[in-house]
Amino acid sequence: MKKKMKVFTILGTRPEVIKLAPVIHQLKLHKKQIVSKVVLTGQHRKMADQFLKLFGIKPDYDLNIMMKNQTLVDVSTRCLIRFSKVLVKEKPDLILVQGDTTSAFIASLAAFYLKIPTGHVEAGLRTFDKYRPFPEEINRQLISVVADFHFAPTKRAKSNLLREHINPKKIYLTGNTVVDSLYSIAGKKYTLRNEILKKIDLDNKKVILVTAHRRESFGGPFKAICKAIKEISEFKDVEIIYPVHLNPNVQKPVNNLLQGRKNIHLLDPLDYETFVFLLRKCYFVLSDSGGVQEESPAFNKPILVMREVTERQEGVEAGVARLIGMDSSRIVKEARKLLNSNAQYAKMSKSASPYGDGTASKQIVEAIIENFKKSGR
Ligand code: UD1
Ligand code: UDP
Repeated sequence: MKKKMKVFTILGTRPEVIKLAPVIHQLKLHKKQIVSKVVLTGQHRKMADQFLKLFGIKPDYDLNIMMKNQTLVDVSTRCLIRFSKVLVKEKPDLILVQGDTTSAFIASLAAFYLKIPTGHVEAGLRTFDKYRPFPEEINRQLISVVADFHFAPTKRAKSNLLREHINPKKIYLTGNTVVDSLYSIAGKKYTLRNEILKKIDLDNKKVILVTAHRRESFGGPFKAICKAIKEISEFKDVEIIYPVHLNPNVQKPVNNLLQGRKNIHLLDPLDYETFVFLLRKCYFVLSDSGGVQEESPAFNKPILVMREVTERQEGVEAGVARLIGMDSSRIVKEARKLLNSNAQYAKMSKSASPYGDGTASKQIVEAIIENFKKSGR
C-alpha cells in the first residue's frame, strides 16, 4: 500500500454507537494501514453520549444536530450540510455507516455527492413495506443504492441485496457487529448500582423488560401498547421494567398512562451494561427494537415483537421471537401464554444465534483493507 487509507466512521444514535464501536476498535488495530476518524452527528445527544464513554470513543467531529422533537427534515438537512463540510475538508477514502437511521442515509448521500465510497454495515435488511419501519425501510434501501461495500449480517440479508442486483463481489457476509459488542460487554464483571432496580426481586419475580420507540407507533398504537402493559402488570408475580426512550412522543403517553403503578418501573434509558444485565435476568422481552431482537436470543430470552412486520425474520423462524403487532388484546394474550404456560415458554426460550458469531467487525475491517490494497493506492 502506498499511503494510509483514511476511513471515517459516522454515528449518531444509540444503536449505531453500540454496533460501530467494535468496528472502530478493529480499525484502530490497523494503525499502520488506516487513519481512522469518528464523526458523531449528534442525532441522539444524551442516549449516544453515555455509550461513547463506555466504549472509549472520542469523536473527531461532533455535528451536534439534535433538536427537541426533531422532524426527519431537521435531522436530514442539518446532517447533510454539516457532514458535507467535514467531507470537503478531510476527503476520506471511505466512510462507514451502519443500519438505517437518517444520520446513516444522509451521510452516505453526502459522500456520494463528493464521489467518496461508502461501506454499509448491517446491509440488506428488508421488510419491503415502505412505511414499516418508518423511515428506516427506505433509509436502508437508499443506502444500498449508494453504497460501494455491503456488509450483510445474515444469508437472508445477502440474498435481499443480490435480488436488488448489487454486485456480489461487493457483498460480504459477516454476521452482525451487535454480537461482537454483546460479547465484549457480557464477559465483564458487573455490579448493579441502579437504586430502583436494586429494590426489585429480580431472582424470584417474572421480570418483563420493555422497550418501544418506533415512529410508526406514535399516537394510537402507543396508547394500545401502554394499555396492554397496564393489564399485564396485573398478572401474578410480574415486575415490568421499562427504560423509556427520550423521544417526547414516547415519554408523554408512557408517563401519562403508566406512572404510579407499583410493579411498573419507568426508568431513564439504561447504560448498556445494565440493559444487558436485565436481558440475562428477565423472563421475557416485549419490544419493537431492532437491536433488542438480535440480542434477546443470545440469552435464551423469548421476545414478543410489537410490530406488524420485521426485517429480523431469522429470530421468528428460529422460534425465539414472535411478531405480535400492536393491538392491546393480542399483546396481553401473548404475554399471558408465556407467563402461564411452561410449554409455551420452553418452546421460545431456546438458544439461537442467527445474527453472528462475534467476528463481524474483524471481517469488515479485513475486507476494507483487502479492497484498498487491490485498488493499488
Ligand atoms: C432514531 C432513529 C431510529 C432508531 C432510533 C434508536 C431515525 C429517523 N430514527 O429514532 O431509526 O431506531 O433512533 O433509538 O434515524 N431525544 C433526546 N435525547 C436523546 C435522543 C433523543 O432528547 O439522546 C429526543 C429528542 O427530542 C429528539 C427525539 O428524541 O428530537 C427523537 O430523536 P430521533 O433520533 O429523531 O428519533 P428516534 O425515535 O430516537
Ligand atoms: N439499549 C440500552 N439501554 C436501554 C435500551 C436499549 O442499552 O435502555 C440498547 C439495546 O441493548 C440495543 C440498543 O440499545 O443494543 C437498541 O436501541 P434502540 O432500540 O433504541 O434502537 P433500534 O435497535 O431499534 O434501532
